[in-house]
Amino acid sequence: MRVGIVGSGRIGGNAGIQLARSGHEVLFSYSRDPVKLERLASEGPGARIGTPREAVEFAEAVVFAVPWRLIDDVLGEMGTLAGRVVVDMTNQYGSGGLEELPDGLSAVETNARRMPGAMLTKAFNTLRPAISATSPRVGSTATSRCSSRPRSNRRSTPSRP
Ligand SMILES: NC(=O)c1ccc[n+]([C@@H]2O[C@H](COP(=O)([O-])OP(=O)(O)OC[C@H]3O[C@@H](n4cnc5c(N)ncnc54)[C@H](OP(=O)(O)O)[C@@H]3O)[C@@H](O)[C@H]2O)c1
Repeated sequence: MRVGIVGSGRIGGNAGIQLARSGHEVLFSYSRDPVKLERLASEGPGARIGTPREAVEFAEAVVFAVPWRLIDDVLGEMGTLAGRVVVDMTNQYGSGGLEELPDGLSAVETNARRMPGAMLTKAFNTLRPAISATSPRVGSTATSRCSSRPRSNRRSTPSRP
C-alpha cells in the first residue's frame, strides 16, 4: 500500500518506519529537517520523501501525526482530502495542556470538520513512541480510538505527547 506520512516525528516517523520495513511504499513529509526525512526514507526500499501535498497525492492512506497547534497550517499545505483515507494519530495537547474543543466536539470530530470529505479514522493516538518504534508482531494487540464513543466518555484523557 502507498502511505503518506504527514508529520514525521516520534509517532508518524515511527509508524512510517514500521510500514516501510513491512514492505509498504511510504512517503515521509512535514519535518523542518530534510536530512531527518532522508534518514527515515532509508528504512525501506519503497520509501521516499516529499511535501505534505505530495504525500496526499501519492497515498492510498495518509497518516496524520502533527502537533495539534499546527493542524490548520499543515492542512493548508496538503490540498483537498476529499475522498482520501486519513488515519489521525493526533491528540489535542497545546502549550497549556489539553485543549478545549469547539462546540462540544471530540478531537476526531474537530478534525473531521477541518478535513471535509475525508474518510477519517482515529488510531494509534494512545500509543507511546517507544511502543510504535518496536517491531510489529502478528497477532499483537492494537489500540485505537474513534469518534463513536458516547458523549459522556469523550473527556477521557489521551496519552500525553
Ligand atoms: N509523543 C507521544 O507520546 C504521542 C502519542 C500519541 C499521539 N501523539 C500525537 O501525535 C502527534 C505528533 O506527536 P509527536 O510526538 O510525533 O510530535 P513530534 O515528535 O514533535 O513530531 C512532530 C512532527 O511535526 C513536524 N513539524 C513541522 N513543523 C513543525 C513546527 N513548526 N513545530 C513543531 N513540529 C513541526 C516535526 O518536524 P521536526 O522533525 O522538524 O521536529 C515532526 O516531524 C501530536 O498530535 C501528538 O499529540 C503523540
